[in-house]
Amino acid sequence: MKIDGVDVVGFLCESASRSELWNRFLHIQRTRVMAEIGVWKGDFAADVLKTASDLEIYYMIDPWANLPDWNKPFNVGPEVFDDIYREMDVKTAFAAHKRRILRGRTKEVIDKIPDKSLDFAYIDGDHTLRGITIDLIKVWGKVKPGGFIGGDDFTTTPWQHDVKFEPTMVCPFSVYFAEAMNVPIIALGYGQFLIQKDERSGFSFRDSTGEYGDLSLNKFPPSLSL
Ligand SMILES: C[S@@+](CC[C@H](N)C(=O)[O-])C[C@H]1O[C@@H](n2cnc3c(N)ncnc32)[C@H](O)[C@@H]1O
Repeated sequence: MKIDGVDVVGFLCESASRSELWNRFLHIQRTRVMAEIGVWKGDFAADVLKTASDLEIYYMIDPWANLPDWNKPFNVGPEVFDDIYREMDVKTAFAAHKRRILRGRTKEVIDKIPDKSLDFAYIDGDHTLRGITIDLIKVWGKVKPGGFIGGDDFTTTPWQHDVKFEPTMVCPFSVYFAEAMNVPIIALGYGQFLIQKDERSGFSFRDSTGEYGDLSLNKFPPSLSL
C-alpha cells in the first residue's frame, strides 16, 4: 500500500503513539475531507483538527446518547452523554468552520455525507459485530476511489472488555470485509487498521505487528473466557 510512492507501513511504523500514527498518515495523504465515527469527548477530533494542515471538512458522527441495545462500557447514562457532548463541543469549537456535527447513529446520519466525497474515514464507534458491520458497509460508498478507511480497536482478542459485554469484532470482521471488497488491509500498531479502497490492488492482509497470525475465533472457547 503506497501513497505517492511512499510505503505506508514503513512510514507509519515509526510512530510513537496512535495520535502520531494518524497525524503522519493525514500528512502524507494530504487529507482534505474526513469523517470520524464515534467521537466521544472529541480528543481525537481536536488533535486532528489542530495538526492536519490540509483538512477542510471534518464530519463527526456520534449519537452522544445512551443506546439500550449497545452492550459496551462506553454506553454511559443520558446525563453523562449530555456532559460529554458539551465537552466535545468546547474542545473542538476552535475549528467550528471545519467540523460538521452529525448527532445520531451511523446508519441514521451517514447520508448527510455525499457519496465518494471522503478522503478518509476513521471508525471508532460501536465495535460489536453489529457495529463494525454497519459502519464499514455504510461508509464504503462515502469514500472516494483510492481513499482510505482506518479504525481503532483492531484487537487480537474479541474479549477486549469483561465477558459480560458484547465481544469486539473489528478484527477479524474488517479483514473479511476487505476480502469481500477485494482491497488491501493492514494491521498497524496501537490496535489500528487501514483499508485502501483500491480494487486494482486486490485483497491482501499485511500484519505489520506480527500479532495477528491466527484470525480464527475458535481459539477463544467460552470455557476459557468465563
Ligand atoms: C471509544 S468512543 C470514541 C473515542 C474517540 N474516537 C476518541 O478517540 O477520542 C466510542 C463512541 O462511539 C459512539 N457510538 C456508539 N454506537 C454508535 C453508532 N451506532 N454510531 C456512531 N457512534 C456510535 C459512542 O457514543 C462513543 O462516543
